[in-house]
Amino acid sequence: MKNLIYFSIAFLVLLIGTLTLIFKIFQTEDKLAFDDEQIGLKDQVVIRFSHVVAENTPKGLAVQYFADLVSEKTDTKVKVEIFANGSLYENDEEALDALKRGKIQMIAPATSKLTTSFPEWQLVDLPFVFPSYEAANEAFNGDIGLYLFSLLESDHLKGLSFWSNGFKQITSNIGPIQSPKDLSGQHFRIMPSELIEKQYSLLDVNPSKIPFNLTYQSLEDHIVDGTENTLSNIYSKKFYRVQNHLTISNHGFLGYIVLMNNDYWNQLPPDIQQVVIESMAEASEMIQKKSIELNLQSFENIKKDSDIEIYELKEKEKKQWVEELQPVYELYESEFDNDLIDELHKIQEKYEEE
Ligand code: LMR
Repeated sequence: MKNLIYFSIAFLVLLIGTLTLIFKIFQTEDKLAFDDEQIGLKDQVVIRFSHVVAENTPKGLAVQYFADLVSEKTDTKVKVEIFANGSLYENDEEALDALKRGKIQMIAPATSKLTTSFPEWQLVDLPFVFPSYEAANEAFNGDIGLYLFSLLESDHLKGLSFWSNGFKQITSNIGPIQSPKDLSGQHFRIMPSELIEKQYSLLDVNPSKIPFNLTYQSLEDHIVDGTENTLSNIYSKKFYRVQNHLTISNHGFLGYIVLMNNDYWNQLPPDIQQVVIESMAEASEMIQKKSIELNLQSFENIKKDSDIEIYELKEKEKKQWVEELQPVYELYESEFDNDLIDELHKIQEKYEEE
């Protein structure tokens, strides 16, 4: 009997000891798991922003600037996570689809990439559409911008801003290209816009819609002879290294539309919406200045880094290009709202006189 009592006491002591030990271990693990940064992360709003260009381009820098401002103004509560160079979605079409499905929250495609869904955005693709950066800004700060932005709502898209990259130039392996007839018989990479396609067909060029990040390879492998783009894109993506001729033609304009998914926008708290609006306004102002500077800088870098033959169109030659491309206006003007095209002509006249 005595033995049984001793045994029971010993068992109880052992049980209590074991339970105390287990309890202590759990307490320690709880302490180790506590991390105030983790608690912060749970409350953090993450905006995933995907784009296809390099970081050192007007768009790349503006996205970074926007992200920094948002983080600063929200005391890091909102983080804009950037995926540059098509690292998350290879091309703008995939990114637009992902935005609509809520997989990412922001994109800034070239306006031409929206033209399949919104044909009126082809207005920006018209040849020699804006005589200057100021003309583009005036168009987008006025009725043209208002109208084009309003179209986006039907597809649950929130247009936050129009950003300029700048003027498109021509590069090719077959050249020099001085007059439009020099392009005859060539094969060109273009962005997906029916208007751009028609424009090149008119010049007897075979146009192929190839994603931006496959362009370098297509040029290097001679799948296409040439392409058009801004100097900052030609430089940052090294197109100039696989092309023999560069013509400074300023024949088209490359602009971007910064987009959010409308449902995502609507569920953001008003204070965060306000920060996004303010930061976007500052980033838009920044890109306006930076794009001019970067395109000039890229031109200098291309001259320094390569033997590419450069030809700058003279004023008289430019007139010839304008005339040759006039039929594009005749083909498309009836597709745009009359007031829109009247407004565009007013802006063109105003800035061409300057
Ligand atoms: C292109 O496809 O050439 C452009 O859209 C790239 C860019 O600047 O976004």
